[in-house]
Amino acid sequence: MACAARAEPTQAELQAMKASYERPKVVPFPKNNPFSPAKLALGQQLFYDTRLSGNGAMSCASCHNQPHAWGDGLPTGVGSKGNRLGRRSPTILNLAWAELLFWDGRADTLEDQALGPIQNPDEMNQTLPALVADLNKTPAYKKAFAAAFPGEAIAPDTIAKAIATFERTVVSGTAPFDRWIEGDESAIDASAKRGFVVFNTTGHCAACHSSWRFTDDSFQDIGMRSSDKGRGAVIEGVAQLSFAFKTPGLRNVAERAPYMHDGSIATLDDVVAHYVDGFVRRPSLSPEIHILPLTERDRADLVAFLKTLSSPDSKASGPNLSTGDKKS
Ligand code: HEC
Ligand code: HEC
Repeated sequence: MACAARAEPTQAELQAMKASYERPKVVPFPKNNPFSPAKLALGQQLFYDTRLSGNGAMSCASCHNQPHAWGDGLPTGVGSKGNRLGRRSPTILNLAWAELLFWDGRADTLEDQALGPIQNPDEMNQTLPALVADLNKTPAYKKAFAAAFPGEAIAPDTIAKAIATFERTVVSGTAPFDRWIEGDESAIDASAKRGFVVFNTTGHCAACHSSWRFTDDSFQDIGMRSSDKGRGAVIEGVAQLSFAFKTPGLRNVAERAPYMHDGSIATLDDVVAHYVDGFVRRPSLSPEIHILPLTERDRADLVAFLKTLSSPDSKASGPNLSTGDKKS
């Protein structure tokens, strides 16, 4: 074969590859919304509260649900009226480090994003005045807001800041992969170790899925068959952005099938098959996407590697509806 067995990386090369995936030590919070335990407690409460929906039946956690790695396990989301949404509910893991939000990057910050789904008629279908009134007549919420935002009102701005604070604490925990990076050779098996090398070399995955979150936050057309223009509908006139979507992080990815913005790929094996030669060729296709010379074993190794990125989350964030008075 012309492309004979690829050279194995040297120890130094492997060490350098591993070093680029080291986890950060602290979660970043913005200056205009610093962390406080009271804000976190309030934000968690709001995230799980069905008061945020017009019909009182849906919370953020309905679609961003911890047991589904903070997605919902569905191909595309389902709104409070039982309606299908156009895109899949993404995980909210590790968004403290994210740049733009949504599959098409149309929100700049978690604070900007939070009020969107509440008011969207297709999602939670609630109005902000009704929500603020409801929270204001709930004594436990009045107390929780006063503790989180002393001297400030219960208002869209403080609601958004609290939810964003909670979201920033949703961080993927230490995975077998991290233990391997830290030097425990028994943390992952030989197939996964080979898969890591494929991911970074012949598989070309790290061109976009880089750093400890396994994303560079870029928008790319990877040749999916959906007719959704993605980032191209937000920023018009840039041919390269047609069909481009945000590169998702790959932490806990094995726990949140089906995959992609449209949930059209059922398994990780099928994701790899897409990258090998299953993509649509068109002018906007990322130059980083091309036919991959991967053997059956390489593909299996890649999937074995992806499975080592799963971990329990750092926070047990189950519902805690002890705020008091339920919506009547
Ligand atoms: C009906 C299901 C549903 C509900 C309820 C819902 N979301 Fe989402 N969420 C989605 C979908 C679908 C997307 C992707 C939409 C898109 O990209 O166009 C999304 C995207 C997001 C993102 C962007 C993630 C990223 O990686 O860019 C965040 C953050 C988020 N939601 C937080 C929330 C919060 C906070 C609430 C409650 C106030 C909420 N969601 C309620 C379905 C839902
Ligand atoms: C050109 C950049 C790029 C390259 C190279 C790339 N990806 Fe992706 N990846 C993306 C984008 C963008 C998406 C989301 C596409 C969409 O939803 O339409 C994605 C989605 C995924 C998903 C689904 C995640 C989810 O939550 O839905 C997995 C798994 C994945 N890629 C793994 C890989 C593997 C393995 C490789 C190497 C064989 C690879 N990627 C190469 C950009 C890239």
